Amino acid sequence: NKINVNEKFRPQYHFTPESNWMNDPNGMVYYAGEYHLFFQHHPYGTTWGPMHWGHAVSKDLIHWEHLPIALAPDEHGDIFSGSVVVDWNDSTGFFQGASGLVAIFTHADQYPDSDLPRQRQSLAYSTDQGRTWIKYEGNPVLAEESIIDFRDPKVFWHEETNQWIMILAAGDHVRFYTSHNLKSWEFASEFGAQSGSHAGVWECPDIFKISVDENEDTEKWVMIVSIGNDSAYVEGSRTQYFIGDFDGFSFTNDNPDDTVLWLDHGRDNYAGVTWSDISNEDGRRIFIGWMSNWKYANETPTIGWRSAMTLPRELTLKETSEGVRLIQTPVTELEKIRREKRSWDQFIIEPGKNVSIDVSGEQSEIIAEFELQSATEFGIKIRKSESEETIIGYDAVNEFLFVNRNNSGVTEFNEYFPCMHGSSLKTENNLLKLHIFVDSSSVEIFANNGQVVITDLIFPDPKSTGIELYTTNKKVKLASLVIVQLASIF
Ligand code: FRU
Repeated sequence: NKINVNEKFRPQYHFTPESNWMNDPNGMVYYAGEYHLFFQHHPYGTTWGPMHWGHAVSKDLIHWEHLPIALAPDEHGDIFSGSVVVDWNDSTGFFQGASGLVAIFTHADQYPDSDLPRQRQSLAYSTDQGRTWIKYEGNPVLAEESIIDFRDPKVFWHEETNQWIMILAAGDHVRFYTSHNLKSWEFASEFGAQSGSHAGVWECPDIFKISVDENEDTEKWVMIVSIGNDSAYVEGSRTQYFIGDFDGFSFTNDNPDDTVLWLDHGRDNYAGVTWSDISNEDGRRIFIGWMSNWKYANETPTIGWRSAMTLPRELTLKETSEGVRLIQTPVTELEKIRREKRSWDQFIIEPGKNVSIDVSGEQSEIIAEFELQSATEFGIKIRKSESEETIIGYDAVNEFLFVNRNNSGVTEFNEYFPCMHGSSLKTENNLLKLHIFVDSSSVEIFANNGQVVITDLIFPDPKSTGIELYTTNKKVKLASLVIVQLASIF
């Protein structure tokens, strides 16, 4: 492990590259007892540059072993985002009848004699659990001359129709292709030009089936689509999702075209996709995202390395009064890094009398339950000192959960970084439950059991470690409070 764990802002329990630049998570797959995580990586600089696939493996999704670069640019171009599958039955013929890993990724270069970007899909395979990779000699395997943005293939095996499916982003929509050997692909359908949010180019799609309310008889397909940074929108890059059905060829959306469902209401959860093949292990669908935003990703105030991933999260579906919605919960493996735990009995917070908690909130998990009563605005300030704070608040009048990072520490590196944002959230039985993860340079909030999630970068002074409870004009009852110190993974 080459990481200098004392570097300023270095997350202590989130995945980060050993050094230099990282963006999207790529090729996540579970195979032979290991969770693989590849990532968009520029190994020779701390800003985006010629893309490689970095690589790490883990046995528990929390502690990672860094491995050498898996894929480097070649005569077909740089290595953009993509996925990895286990070819269990050697459909490709790469594995002499055994199984192995196949990466399906975007090769990015330029059309000969022009500066126009060209994006085509290619394969690489590994016969040694991902330690070394061989690029397929027939690359690229899929090209569409007329589509400029054509990237980020996510491939999976569709049991019912006995074929591989590829979903990939094509500018303002996603496209589906089918294959029997991963080498030749047939166009099946497209979705989305009229649906959801188009506040940016579509990127990094994923699609998978999960049961609703853990009932195996009601399964729904979830499609995740990231939308790129567009100068017209202050939010920058964001991730939306769709709920519907998929028959092996096309997707049907359960909601009207103008419904927009956001996966995260913070500013820093982008290009996230889910692990392949974990379902063989324990049936979970696990997601991880890149914890940054193209608005300012190249300018964040870290030195020698840049960017972290979100915590890995389990995705489930819940039937709500508004329809089926995606729920995110931090993976239970995180309980392994819990250290000292303190809990408080219920107490009342009064206006003008903020309650500061006498534990360090530098690297912590905070589980708080509020009983609203007649409160108008209340919440928790984290990474607090005399001059800094990040506010996690609930505006009870407008039923709005928010994060205010205007004064969270170093913010001036980009005009879009200081901001306040959030999501409408109705309380149930007048209760608000917040499950918060604080690290050296991030905060992740899972509200009401993962119904609303807010993920944000913050760059507080290492000495700003306070936690404080507040209410503005009316009393609020803190029904329970637990704060757990989290261990470093290094
Ligand atoms: C998303 C993205 C992808 C692309 C990759 C390039 O953040 O723009 O669409 O494959 O990053 O690094």
